[in-house]
Amino acid sequence: MNITIIGTGYVGLITGSIFSDRSNTVYCVDSNQTIIENLNQCKLHIYEPRLKELIIKNKDKGLFFTTNLNKAIKNSDIVFMCVGTPSDEDGSFNLKYIKSVAEGIGEVFKECNGFKIVVCKSTVPQGTHKVVSDIINKKSKENHQLEWEYVSNPETLAEGSAVSNFSSPDRIIIGTNSSKALEVMKQLYHSFVLKDSENRFKIGSPADAELAKLYSNTALATRIAMVNEFARIADHTDGADMDTIRRMLCSDSRIGYKFMYPSPGYGGSCFPKDILGLVSQSKLNEYQPLLLNTIDKSNELQKDYIASKVLSVLGPGKKVAIWGLTFKPNTDDMRESASIKVINKLLENGYNISVYDPKDNKAKEIFKDKIIFHNQKYSAIENTDAVILLTEWRQFDSPDFKLMKEKMNGNYIFDFRNRWLPKIVNSYNFNYYGVGRNYPLE
Ligand code: UGA
Repeated sequence: MNITIIGTGYVGLITGSIFSDRSNTVYCVDSNQTIIENLNQCKLHIYEPRLKELIIKNKDKGLFFTTNLNKAIKNSDIVFMCVGTPSDEDGSFNLKYIKSVAEGIGEVFKECNGFKIVVCKSTVPQGTHKVVSDIINKKSKENHQLEWEYVSNPETLAEGSAVSNFSSPDRIIIGTNSSKALEVMKQLYHSFVLKDSENRFKIGSPADAELAKLYSNTALATRIAMVNEFARIADHTDGADMDTIRRMLCSDSRIGYKFMYPSPGYGGSCFPKDILGLVSQSKLNEYQPLLLNTIDKSNELQKDYIASKVLSVLGPGKKVAIWGLTFKPNTDDMRESASIKVINKLLENGYNISVYDPKDNKAKEIFKDKIIFHNQKYSAIENTDAVILLTEWRQFDSPDFKLMKEKMNGNYIFDFRNRWLPKIVNSYNFNYYGVGRNYPLE
């Protein structure tokens, strides 16, 4: 099939490069000339494992990067909208990019014929399908030479594993009112669901698909907010250990193990934004959600709580090393990362901070010279009072605690991903602090 992808962020680039790898012809369009020039030289503005290799393999064979929306859409059967929906100040989804893309599509549709499908992959508030359809119909002046249909096909990619998520999806959500469009979408995704095609397509209306995506992220964020709240509760008991509790709980198959790891608070471009957007949209629809506001507040509280924990143990004006800055491993994405809040609070309290993160390019833009960046995890910890683990990159899984003890001045370890065994850490004469970890047995 011939496909246009509008927007070359995480979602657009991954969608485009994988569809081209499955022998479709894909035009990735962006209005930003520099981004397109760089992509044409295989220079990526984001880091995602395996993405660059896919682009190098397919570029100019079935994968093209262009600013020419007109030509791309005219040559395509399907047009994917993959642009951002950032938050407005009140938390609501800002649809300016979606609307402007819809205008652009409508303009080109004036001169098209045959059958085309417009697919929205961006995370959008419920009701966006109507907004986009109205704009396209108005702009294309209801060109009778062209039949077109709308599909909501929200992305379910997690950064860091997005290529494998897309290649072997556990579900493909398709929201459409058109059986013709549904058949084309099933054909497009057929090779991705060979094992169990009928069960992995989740089909409903555009309204269903839009809200299902928001519910999915809210459900995951709620689990994390809840596990972190219990970690705070555990900290205020006379010895309950969150890691032990987590294991006791997760073996209940109704609960399970995923998204149950205590942390310094969830970050990323999705959970925080989607929950606030949902709250604000519900209010517009004259419904006051009860739980949703609390999830976000509880998560922000966790970020503060983590910083306060360091301050209460060490006091002000210390020298610490932070391992891991990104909101999760295997990405360079810093959006809403707990590290931002934690570092700023420590800086306010006169801390001298050295850091190591395997992908620190975006963190450097945020912190500039306020903190000291190192290229190696052990050089960052020299003469520090404490090491604080914020992101669980594999590089930090089995550190040499003996070497750490030699290099550091102090003896404090804050393991805010609960990755290390307290007994082992303490055996090197460190004082170990985790998230909700108390008197652990192992
Ligand atoms: C999330 C969803 O997982 C995807 O399914 C969805 O498609 C995506 O949002 C989106 O809407 O685009 P993502 O934000 O990339 O993906 O990353 P996650 O793996 O979900 O992690 C989000 C945050 O939760 C991270 O800060 C992570 O450290 C934290 N987390 C995750 C925990 O604190 N504890 C856990 O047990 C799991």
